[in-house]
Amino acid sequence: MSKVIKGGTIVTADRSWKADVLIEGEKIVEIGENLKGDEVIDASDAYVIPGGIDPHTHLEMPFMGTTAAETFESGTYAAAAGGTTMLVDFCLPGEDGSLLSAMDEWDRKSAPQICVDIGYHMAVTDWNERIFEEMPEVVKRGVNTFKHFMAYKGALMVQDDEMFASFKRCAEIGALPLVHAENGDIVAELQQKYLAMGVTGPEGHAYSRPPEVEGEAANRAIMIADAAGVPLYIVHVSCEQAHEAIRRARQKGMRVYGEPLIQHLTLDETEYFNKDWEYAARRVMSPPFRDKSHQDSLWAGLMAGSLQVVATDHAAFTTEQKHMGDGDFTRIPNGTGGLEERLSVLWTRGVETGRLTPEEFVAVTSTNIAKILNIYPRKGAVAVGADADVVVWDPKARKTISAATQKSIIDYNVFEGMEVTGLPRFTLSRGEVVWSAGQNVPPRPGRGRFVPRPAFPSAHKALSKWKALTAPRKIERDPRNIPSGV
Ligand code: URP
Ligand code: ZN
Ligand code: ZN
Ligand code: ZN
Repeated sequence: MSKVIKGGTIVTADRSWKADVLIEGEKIVEIGENLKGDEVIDASDAYVIPGGIDPHTHLEMPFMGTTAAETFESGTYAAAAGGTTMLVDFCLPGEDGSLLSAMDEWDRKSAPQICVDIGYHMAVTDWNERIFEEMPEVVKRGVNTFKHFMAYKGALMVQDDEMFASFKRCAEIGALPLVHAENGDIVAELQQKYLAMGVTGPEGHAYSRPPEVEGEAANRAIMIADAAGVPLYIVHVSCEQAHEAIRRARQKGMRVYGEPLIQHLTLDETEYFNKDWEYAARRVMSPPFRDKSHQDSLWAGLMAGSLQVVATDHAAFTTEQKHMGDGDFTRIPNGTGGLEERLSVLWTRGVETGRLTPEEFVAVTSTNIAKILNIYPRKGAVAVGADADVVVWDPKARKTISAATQKSIIDYNVFEGMEVTGLPRFTLSRGEVVWSAGQNVPPRPGRGRFVPRPAFPSAHKALSKWKALTAPRKIERDPRNIPSGV
């Protein structure tokens, strides 16, 4: 049974043109005019784009004394409903500390539930001989990224020496390190300071994680990566200070990537202040929402290319779970949702406003991350031979975001009441329609697959031009008269 997506305008990260897309089984087999297939999918007055890839989710993640309530089934169904056909979830090692057991556990949880394709990032939350030995095995099993938390002191946080060791290992085995950049020591101290001052509500979360702690950590991680000779990907970049560190590094020739979230691009710190407790607590995430000047910086970064990817960091907890932090903001589970809303909100606030072209929208929601994660053009492309992960995007369709109609099983939505323009008409995952705006397409848990990502080629390790330019030159006679051999 072939399918033809007919009458639409294909938009890739490079260009847009009118053509039909023919799908056989799971793959795109032809792109051209007047194509015929057994089944016709109507794309008239619509764009045909590569399915969104959300590179940052935490489904069913054990965290802060509870477990994220969004399941692999509800999360991947919400993704499909929003035009996202692949997500990359964070694997956290359990009690035994083994990375390989963590992967087994994530496979066990996700495989029977997923409605679209997934991949993993592996968290390195400790450093020892076993982790060193297991890292190449993790890569062999299709996970080429390792995440390091510079925050969450006493829990997930790693020290600089551990990060340096892990980054060097990443360089050796062709993997890409990721960091959550916040200075966890400073955050822990500020948290105690605000609690002692009697600030116990969600606003204390924002006060205790100012942009400086993120800028410092981003800069430190970049320098450690440079010393280790490895590229770096910084997740949830929320402020000018971190963005500035990334810009500076890139300008010097370092391969550093930055990922803002749709939440930080569109919601600001006033969400925490003078709001009722539940409203604010539902929006507690790390880093916190910032003032509007930081949003301008993030948008500028997407427009200029110094930031490459828009993600969600979907880590969704119910209101009841948020109440674990009654009387102490440090116990409010950190995280918000956005899997279903990412594309629509970005289209509305990015493309409709003229900040991004449709091609740039495709780049930051799909193609760039497919390239960064080494799965392009199997994913992130509308091209012959690519997986038929395709969205028929209706740029004129409108809705008001509401928890009452979302696919997420969380009891609220941080974008509640936002009017969006631009929605998926159809979402296809490997050739199968997994979402239709006009018909009820129920979730098909278990149909999604794990997508292995190969190790990076050795050229990926090449680092900063700046380093090459300033490499020690051969000095005939040391001008400081330091004896040779010292
Ligand atoms: O608040 C957040 N971001 N929660 C999820 C874990 C993380 O830091 O990414
Ligand atoms: Zn994080
Ligand atoms: Zn996260
Ligand atoms: Zn309560």
